[in-house]
Amino acid sequence: MLLETVNKEARKSENILNALLEYQKSKDTNHISEEELAKLAEELGVTESRAYSIITFYSLFSTHPRGKYIIQVCNDVPCYVNESTNILEEFENYLEIRVGGTTHDGVFSLERTSCLGCCNMSPAIRIGEKVYGNLSTDDIPRIISEYRRKYDEEI
Ligand code: FES
Repeated sequence: MLLETVNKEARKSENILNALLEYQKSKDTNHISEEELAKLAEELGVTESRAYSIITFYSLFSTHPRGKYIIQVCNDVPCYVNESTNILEEFENYLEIRVGGTTHDGVFSLERTSCLGCCNMSPAIRIGEKVYGNLSTDDIPRIISEYRRKYDEEI
């Protein structure tokens, strides 16, 4: 049973979003494959198409393997006018990957995302559940170091 890693409350079909999110978080590859999705839908008692529509609607989900930490750079208008493009480019240069890519060691993936709901802090990014705002390109090395340290502590 795939949902054994997910807490009991989230396993209920009315909590399908939480169940899928928790399941994805439990994997180092941060994704749900199509085979897994079919099993998860069955375990949750929902149709496969319902489960599929959820993971394709929310940018938090992926059907292909990603890094342990997903860096999502907001690209909506308030962030864009506050130079989120520079932030994205700095991550690309610093991590030596392009947007949509994953570092060789599988630690980071870099993505664009729509509004994170904190436009007053633009430009903003999200890594996991943590949001960073009012960023400048000078902040990027510190943020990467923070997650490298965290990763080293966890392995
Ligand atoms: S537009 Fe970037 S957080 Fe809203």
